[in-house]
Amino acid sequence: MKVIVTGGTGYIGSHTITDLLENNFEVVCIDSLARSTKYALKAIEQITNKRIKFYQIDLCNKQDTFDVLEQHKDAVGIIHFAAFKTVPESVANPLLYYNNNLISLNNVLEGIQKFNIPNFVFSSSCSVYGNTKELPVTEDTPFQEAESAYAHTKQIGEQIIQHYSKVSSTQSILLRYFNPVGAHPSGLLGEMTVNKPDNLVPYITQTAIGKLEQLTVFGSDYDTPDGSCIRDYIHVCDIAHAHTLALQYLIENNNKTNCEVFNLGTGKGVSVLEAIYAFEKVTNRKLNYIIGARRSGDVEKIYANNTKAAIALKWKCRYNIEDAMLSAWNWEVKMKESGL
Ligand code: WQD
Repeated sequence: MKVIVTGGTGYIGSHTITDLLENNFEVVCIDSLARSTKYALKAIEQITNKRIKFYQIDLCNKQDTFDVLEQHKDAVGIIHFAAFKTVPESVANPLLYYNNNLISLNNVLEGIQKFNIPNFVFSSSCSVYGNTKELPVTEDTPFQEAESAYAHTKQIGEQIIQHYSKVSSTQSILLRYFNPVGAHPSGLLGEMTVNKPDNLVPYITQTAIGKLEQLTVFGSDYDTPDGSCIRDYIHVCDIAHAHTLALQYLIENNNKTNCEVFNLGTGKGVSVLEAIYAFEKVTNRKLNYIIGARRSGDVEKIYANNTKAAIALKWKCRYNIEDAMLSAWNWEVKMKESGL
């Protein structure tokens, strides 16, 4: 069965394509390469020994989007990752995010409607919950105000799909990722940052390998056991496999409504300092870090109640924070060795 993956050369998209191929799907990948390179396509083919069809188009161009979807209207579904996702950039340049993330989503949905593609999986984010006090968050936890334009585009995107689902036969699933971390066990795929990373784990590995001087822990005066922020760090391969299970769930018509939401988190909160200690433990390296001021827009703590996906999708997390840190380090070392 054929599936179309948008944003497929990105971090989560490329790991998901790998999982889909390993589960015998045929994959068509669409990406503008605005924030990624074709490197992932070669790595995926090396890992799976399978070829994928690739189209470099901007999904904000409706005609180009329709042309590709029409060629592959026999697809069983579309998994839509394509979006900009750098929180600080979205705060500095909100219109870039509202235009890119929402126009592309609308064009894909119009294409799905026009060519009757039956199933749709949307890449959403725990950032839709905002600074909630209800922990762990369930899929019914109400949204607080979005902390960034990025998070707001995910809230709006979900609401567009929910309203569209009311008047269409398309079956949709919204997957809310917590903090995706780690890399493929082969060491051939992982998070590639174009400039200095914003996210914690690539900042840790780039500091440890010497690309960056020192990590700053953004605040140790939060209302948490060790004072640093708490997140739910989930291995990217566990997130990837959840997409395959979500698509199979829709194909088998196991869904109860035609727009269902699932949290993708481990269910375990881990603080920044605990994440650093996990890295130091699995790599046997001392990390150069200092404690600094809080970063504006940071949520104090958030972690998932993941039982809905565990039951409905029969999904379970195979990896923990130590596995994620070791795979992230392995990837950093492989990138250095191959001059990436
Ligand atoms: C994690 C913690 C920082 C860097 C991310 C993505 C967002 C969404 C959710 C997918 C925070 C601390 C970080 C550093 C630090 N993902 N930190 N020093 O902000 O939770 O959001 O996951 O949709 O797109 O951005 O992730 O990795 O930036 O921060 O102390 O140098 O690490 O303060 O507490 P965040 P992050």
